[in-house]
Amino acid sequence: VPFTSSVIELIEQRYSCRTYLDLPLQASQRQRLAGYLTTIKAGPLGTPGRFKLVAASEQDHHALRGLGTYGIIRGATGYLIGTVSDAAHDMEDFGYMMEQIILFATELGLGTCWLGGTFTRSSFAANMDLQSDESMPCVVSVGHIASHRSLVDRFIRRDATVRKRWAWPALFFDRHFGRPLSREAAADHAVPLEMVRLAPSASNKQPWRVVHLDGAWHFYLQRNTWYGERNMKLLLLADLQRIDLGIAMSHFELTARELGLAGSWQIEEPVIAVTDPRAEYVVTWQQA
Ligand SMILES: Cc1cc2nc3c(=O)[nH]c(=O)nc-3n(C[C@H](O)[C@H](O)[C@H](O)COP(=O)(O)O)c2cc1C
Repeated sequence: VPFTSSVIELIEQRYSCRTYLDLPLQASQRQRLAGYLTTIKAGPLGTPGRFKLVAASEQDHHALRGLGTYGIIRGATGYLIGTVSDAAHDMEDFGYMMEQIILFATELGLGTCWLGGTFTRSSFAANMDLQSDESMPCVVSVGHIASHRSLVDRFIRRDATVRKRWAWPALFFDRHFGRPLSREAAADHAVPLEMVRLAPSASNKQPWRVVHLDGAWHFYLQRNTWYGERNMKLLLLADLQRIDLGIAMSHFELTARELGLAGSWQIEEPVIAVTDPRAEYVVTWQQA
């Protein structure tokens, strides 16, 4: 774990910052961030990734609007860009790796925002020398958080209860879908689950579902109609909801490790009835 602060605090602090000061990153911030990027080489499910910090140009702001990202980013002074090799779990691994980088940037006091779009033919892709067996599913804006309002914003957002997130019964289940998991039953894993709940997700759809069964935490993707695999392909968009799952995995694992809860990721679908046709099994955190 690369963080000196509590990862729980970093997760609570992070939010999608869309307005930045017109100030470059400090040299020390740039160096530490760039240094950290070089240590990230593969995701927990084995997909190699490469990451880079690039300075934002005027053209980037312009270009982003045409690349299918929503929300206007003002004054970002940099972008975190990255690629993953094509693989079965490339999107989950990308989400996991990039979110770790985001939490590192949060620790440096910087604001960030995930941006999902179509970057394959963009200047960002040229910057990474994107290979034919790689993709660039998202970029992340990074910079100094702007204005008073954002500071207030940030303060308010630390209180997790005001976040727009589904409540526990919609997300976490005990032995099977349809039976909500209580915090008491989640016991020492209640905090890792709460950190999943605070994770960012595309359009805040929160597609993660977790079922607890005999020392295992089974992660499922509950797709939204619009974000179906077919639509994503039609729009040449990355499968953003699989990225969301990877982000949730990073929050869960980093928090579990911080709390001294050992475990590892495995892919082995349990015998749990999946009643919703848009839900699919992704991965399991097996307690050690
Ligand atoms: C994969 C992914 C793609 C996203 N794409 C965009 C985007 O294109 N534009 C944007 O303004 N926000 C984007 N977001 C940010 C989400 O809207 C945001 O995480 C969500 O609304 C929750 O808010 P919070 O991050 O402030 O907690 C994206 C988030 C994720 C995880």
